Amino acid sequence: MIVPGSASQALAAELAAELDRPLAAVEYERFPDGELLASFSPDDVDGDEAVVVASTTSNDAYIELLQLQDALREAGVEEITTVIPYIGYARQDRAFEAGQPISVRAVARAVSTGTDRVLTVDPHEETVREFFDVPTESVTAAGRLAEPLSELADPVFLSPDAGAIGLAETVRDAYGAGETDYFEKTRRSGSEVEIAPSDVEVGGRDVVVVDDIIATGSTMSEAIAVLQGRDPARVFVSCVHPMLVGSARTKLARSGVEAVYGTDTIERAESRVSAAPAIAEALR
Ligand code: R5P
Repeated sequence: MIVPGSASQALAAELAAELDRPLAAVEYERFPDGELLASFSPDDVDGDEAVVVASTTSNDAYIELLQLQDALREAGVEEITTVIPYIGYARQDRAFEAGQPISVRAVARAVSTGTDRVLTVDPHEETVREFFDVPTESVTAAGRLAEPLSELADPVFLSPDAGAIGLAETVRDAYGAGETDYFEKTRRSGSEVEIAPSDVEVGGRDVVVVDDIIATGSTMSEAIAVLQGRDPARVFVSCVHPMLVGSARTKLARSGVEAVYGTDTIERAESRVSAAPAIAEALR
């Protein structure tokens, strides 16, 4: 049985289809005081294994996930796998200043109490897996980001920082041609970044900028601004997790981007490809 969190309903349905498993009908309710209640019919419980699929894009999503795990245990399910396609708080993976928490460790510990295994997709840092107290693995959906890209002119695949070069290489390899390189990024604040150009020649070429996540869009729009001064043909943006908060879309549109492509680890209009096949392969 595949049990969706409210933020991952489309992905959970894709996964259920890929694995040919039933999809639980979860109800998501809210009490007048704001507290949540995620539940499913006991008739949906099928066998002693279940897979919860819930991207934790909000605090509420974490609560829902914990509730679904608990309801499954309550219904007698013995083997629970928790798929967290996008792990919220993963970017606070260290205490950057004295007095700060390692937020992802705190939520990982809580999630671990209700599951036997965790699976995630392209986490911000692979080291995040170490914070869970149960076996945790990650899969990549980045290769699928090549699917909407077609007939690129002498393409260059760039990442906004050295940390994401592996993703740019994965998309390039899946596309089947092109050069890769990365920019140097310095973060000035939560919404301000400074991008120094890569040395690669982009004049007259199609450029695909690849990152793990687009949140405020500052990183991508700064990267594209650097590129636009160097006459690329077209600029595409690809990311695994299209968070796209606040004015991210406006920033990207103003930067002159041709198209933005993401996966359904975060379900948005830009989710052009599904992470379900990669997740299904790991679960089979
Ligand atoms: C940071 O290292 C990440 O890989 C992303 O580049 C970053 O989180 C994107 O955030 P934003 O869209 O707010 O610049």
